[in-house]
Amino acid sequence: MSMLTIEDLVVRVRSQDGPRTIVDGVSLDIERGEALGLVGESGSGKSITARTVLGLFPAGSQVSGRIEVDGFSVLGADRRGLTALRSRRVAMIFQDPRAHINPVHRIGDFLTEALRRHLGMDRAGAARRAVGLLADVGIPDGERRLRQYPHELSGGLLQRVMIAAAIAIEPDLILADEPTTALDVTTQSEVMAILGELRTQRGMAMLFITHDLELAAATCDRTAVMYAGRIVERQPSKSLAQQPLHPYTSGLLGSRPSIETVAHRLPVIPGRPVAAFEAGEGCAFAPRCGFALDRCHRERPPVEHRLEGEVACHRHEELTGVLAGEPIAAPTGAPVERSVDV
Ligand SMILES: Nc1ncnc2c1ncn2[C@@H]1O[C@H](COP(=O)(O)OP(=O)(O)OP(=O)(O)O)[C@@H](O)[C@H]1O
Ligand SMILES: [Mg+2]
Repeated sequence: MSMLTIEDLVVRVRSQDGPRTIVDGVSLDIERGEALGLVGESGSGKSITARTVLGLFPAGSQVSGRIEVDGFSVLGADRRGLTALRSRRVAMIFQDPRAHINPVHRIGDFLTEALRRHLGMDRAGAARRAVGLLADVGIPDGERRLRQYPHELSGGLLQRVMIAAAIAIEPDLILADEPTTALDVTTQSEVMAILGELRTQRGMAMLFITHDLELAAATCDRTAVMYAGRIVERQPSKSLAQQPLHPYTSGLLGSRPSIETVAHRLPVIPGRPVAAFEAGEGCAFAPRCGFALDRCHRERPPVEHRLEGEVACHRHEELTGVLAGEPIAAPTGAPVERSVDV
């Protein structure tokens, strides 16, 4: 049984102009201990998809489809079931740590709350464990940090505190929503290394959300690419990066500069991304796609099995081998020297 199964997830929110679809038929699965990257531009529905796994929906939204965590049905769950899910099985690292931590509580209160409430630890035991967790994420002077307030910590440090809180409950599945986007490159690779190590040590499955396709491909077993509320391609990371099947994937690979490969790659994707409710009849990517035919503007492409994954593009067979990928970097899960910013 998969650790996470999402099948045909549709999320509609209320708006002044009527219901708006923001996630439009997403299906994905993650095996026990596996890491799946979820990549796409802003507004494609990545965060909403991850939040629905915890049963967190925008107020007044309609949600349909199936979400199962290790066989437990999230969409059918009552409050008690959802509390148990969030407190013991699935943890989320939210996109913006400052928005998800109470600014008037000390770091120690934040970290020990879950340990005391859900694991039944006493105050002293929880504090000791919290110091250990901070050490695990590369923060050596835990006792001092526990007494500090969120505003006293840098963004990178706070992100590590969030990771420590997420692993405190020893979850089976971690939903990491752009855990490194706000960080400088060095801190970014340290945080990725920490997540990679923790995953290997504890056998956690992970949904890793990012804008950075190459980072996802280098750190996750498989990668899914999302556009306008749908998954347009899903492959083992290596093949996705070397031989993308969807023009959007290829465009994302091309939108990072690289001296050796720039000559034969697609230019940066023109135009702006759209949300699901802004997409027309046909393929949502067609208005930005250099390969679009009439049919692409009229008919929505179905998701088809291809190689070891899936793709939704009318022209995927003709385009095989035409779209540019690039050699994938070595996995960055290897331990790196850790330093702590203050
Ligand atoms: N609470 C909400 N109510 C209504 N619409 C929402 C809500 N949250 C998000 N949306 C809309 O849903 C779409 C998808 O949002 P989501 O936050 O999932 O995107 P994302 O892929 O995570 O983007 P980013 O990369 O910027 O984080 C967007 O168009 C967004 O405006
Ligand atoms: Mg997001």
